[in-house]
Amino acid sequence: MSIESSLLPASELAAAVDGFLAASPASRGWDVETSFDWPRADAGRLTDGQRSAVQFVTFIEDHLPGYFDVYHRFFPVDDSVDRPAFIHNRELYHFTVRWAAEEDTHARALTRYQVESGMAETHTLRGELAIEGRKPFDLPYEHPVQFFAYALVQEKATQMYYHQLRDVVDDPVLGALLTRLSRDEARHFSFMADVVSRYLRTQGDLIVDPIRDVITGFRMPLADTLRGYWRWALQIADVAGYDHTDAYDHLIKVIDRAVDARSDRVDELMTFIAQCRVLK
Ligand SMILES: [Fe+2]
Ligand SMILES: [Fe+2]
Repeated sequence: MSIESSLLPASELAAAVDGFLAASPASRGWDVETSFDWPRADAGRLTDGQRSAVQFVTFIEDHLPGYFDVYHRFFPVDDSVDRPAFIHNRELYHFTVRWAAEEDTHARALTRYQVESGMAETHTLRGELAIEGRKPFDLPYEHPVQFFAYALVQEKATQMYYHQLRDVVDDPVLGALLTRLSRDEARHFSFMADVVSRYLRTQGDLIVDPIRDVITGFRMPLADTLRGYWRWALQIADVAGYDHTDAYDHLIKVIDRAVDARSDRVDELMTFIAQCRVLK
């Protein structure tokens, strides 16, 4: 089955996009230039592990061009798709551009923090980010719901990570930044949760296998390309008390709430996802 034939109806997707944009009015936005007291940023108040955590997420957020490009490849807004798919993709684009602007702001804010707090020097940091930023990013998916299920887990995991890191850092400027970041990721998660719910209600059992495949092969972004990813991931998991499989519980909740009468196959999917949690 092609991606086009399994897309959510455009009206369903548009409702999710409208909901996201209504929850993200410009009046509640923030920016790198005015929202933080940069001269007070002080990496001297952080532990080595916390500084390492900030460096790590800067790499992850700074890869935005690669993530953004995935949407263009799989949901093109041009004559490579038929008109119904174009209508769907054009609605999705309203989300994607706003989301990308927010993620790009995250990258700039973290970079700015590193420089203002004394962790890094601008020129060197740019060069380091470019080494990773030039590497390709891809998602090995065939069904559209997989992109949203993947992003659902990844956005929730990132939100939890920022939240937990915020609770342990002693620099108020970084704390304020992490609060902003985690709120944005929470809204991104809500959009993905809304879209996945709509897929469940409209396609039911047809999306069980695609979602199972996402969890089976789940890797956080850049896990396969960033130098020393796993060593780094273990170290920062320790710093923030964090594990991305914590986010699986949220996917289970989304599935649980999406449909009133669950089929056996959907029940099995929920059991499977629960088994993929890392036990502590
Ligand atoms: Fe982000
Ligand atoms: Fe996000």
